[in-house]
Amino acid sequence: MYSEKVLNCFMNPQNVGEIQDADGVGTVGNPRCGDIMKIYLKIEDNIIRDAKFKTFGCGAAVATSTMLTQMIQGKSIDDALQITNQDVAKALDGLPPVKMHCSCLAEEALKAALWDYAQKNQLTIEGLEPPKSVAEEEHEEIAE
Ligand code: FES
Repeated sequence: MYSEKVLNCFMNPQNVGEIQDADGVGTVGNPRCGDIMKIYLKIEDNIIRDAKFKTFGCGAAVATSTMLTQMIQGKSIDDALQITNQDVAKALDGLPPVKMHCSCLAEEALKAALWDYAQKNQLTIEGLEPPKSVAEEEHEEIAE
């Protein structure tokens, strides 16, 4: 059912933990299962120097967190933004179809962390949308 890479990333997760002085932190939840992923980024000169995660979720979510944090380290923000959940699943030699939604957590958590970084530094990152929960909160504030 799972590829060797998925099993390895789940059994030996890398980059687990948090970055105390992170430049960007993103937390997202999967509405289908209630699992949660949090990603911490250290960014210098537009390059992701370090990435760590905490995932309260299934094995596929842990494996995709490991793979994504490995894939983005050393990449520019723009290059990291190009990485999709499909890319992460491909790097893991695939995920079972019923587990593809788990890989979306990784992509969304990365984008949420980059959004947090942009907000803290008053930057506009082209192609980066606010995380859905943030957009909804802002919308509610405006509506009140
Ligand atoms: Fe929740 Fe996989 S079942 S992220």
